[in-house]
Amino acid sequence: MDNILIVDDREENIFSLESMLEKDERFFFRATSGNDALKIAFKENIDLILMDVQMPEMDGFETVEILKSNPRTNKIPIIFVTAINKDSKYVVKGLQDGAIDYLFKPVDIDITRAKVSNILLMINQKKELEAKNEELSRLNQEKNQLLGMAAHDLRNPLGNILVLSDFIIDEASDKLSGEEKGFLGMIKQSSTYMMGLINNILDVSKIESGKLEIKPVPTDINQLIKSNIGLNKYLANKKDITLELEIPEEEINAMADSSYIEQVLNNLVSNAIKFSLGGTKIMVRLEKMPDHCIVSVIDEGPGIPENELGKLFKFFSRTSVQSTQGEHSTGLGLAISRKIVEAHCGTITVNSKKGAGSTFSFSLPM
Ligand SMILES: Nc1ncnc2c1ncn2[C@@H]1O[C@H](COP(=O)(O)OP(=O)(O)OP(=O)(O)O)[C@@H](O)[C@H]1O
Ligand SMILES: [Mg+2]
Repeated sequence: MDNILIVDDREENIFSLESMLEKDERFFFRATSGNDALKIAFKENIDLILMDVQMPEMDGFETVEILKSNPRTNKIPIIFVTAINKDSKYVVKGLQDGAIDYLFKPVDIDITRAKVSNILLMINQKKELEAKNEELSRLNQEKNQLLGMAAHDLRNPLGNILVLSDFIIDEASDKLSGEEKGFLGMIKQSSTYMMGLINNILDVSKIESGKLEIKPVPTDINQLIKSNIGLNKYLANKKDITLELEIPEEEINAMADSSYIEQVLNNLVSNAIKFSLGGTKIMVRLEKMPDHCIVSVIDEGPGIPENELGKLFKFFSRTSVQSTQGEHSTGLGLAISRKIVEAHCGTITVNSKKGAGSTFSFSLPM
């Protein structure tokens, strides 16, 4: 049902408009003064107002000004109905006051019907879109909750598998055959991979529902990089890749939540290792700028085709570049990294060309 409010100090004008616009699915409210119009508009759910301009006491412009200043009524579209000559100054005033159209008295039946129908159609489409949007964001929220709950509930049993397989490897390995030890190693490797994946999915769910809590404090970035490079150096060496640091002597203190920034650094370095071939070099560089610092991870890997750069930082998106030794790839690391860096008020960028290596950099405010 479309609710139309007709405002005119002369009742016969109201009836004439009403009879022109009469249709199923339309309900008419009538007001013979600005004051009455305000009362009705605040109380009812009005879809469209046809507003006379010249009325005693409060004129149409004043009434609209009040309607537009209140959040309850400021979105109601208004058509001014005026006998004032078509002087453009009035038209402009009405439009500035928030009218979306004009009708001039004596009104033309066809034009009036067409304008009202068009505006109501537009409003109903807008309402439908809003309802769909609301539904979509509700479903999205539900999906995030489900994702978060599933990942959370999987983490504990998986943690048990990891701890227990570690325990058997440490304590009972002398009682196991070589083949059994190999199987246990595989159980541990797969569980570690799954744990990483589950932690990433938990991050996605937190990010999507706006629950990523980042608390940046002044942090020694030189130290953060040095103490996190060890494991990656080991993994790089296993692939015959050299991992080097280029870090200035002077201490650089930036605002960082260290566990999250470590996660970003690890994502970038582990990508560089994952997508590079043996015999290449990876450089982690720290630079100081006047009010921020930049951490760059520079590799000599395959580079990324230009037309695929746009999808790098999106959730679950991978490019045509494949890992060089069959390492797993989910397409979450960079999207999570971008959210983390942006939550630090920094930026993350990529500079890459097919065949010419890639440089991923992120900045942190100091
Ligand atoms: N240093 C790089 N060199 C070449 N391609 C890269 C590099 N880093 C990322 N990519 C490309 O970007 C894609 C997305 O990277 P991202 O880190 O988001 O996901 P992933 O490494 O595939 O999986 P995950 O990080 O979730 O384990 C990768 O699949 C790869 O195609
Ligand atoms: Mg990655």
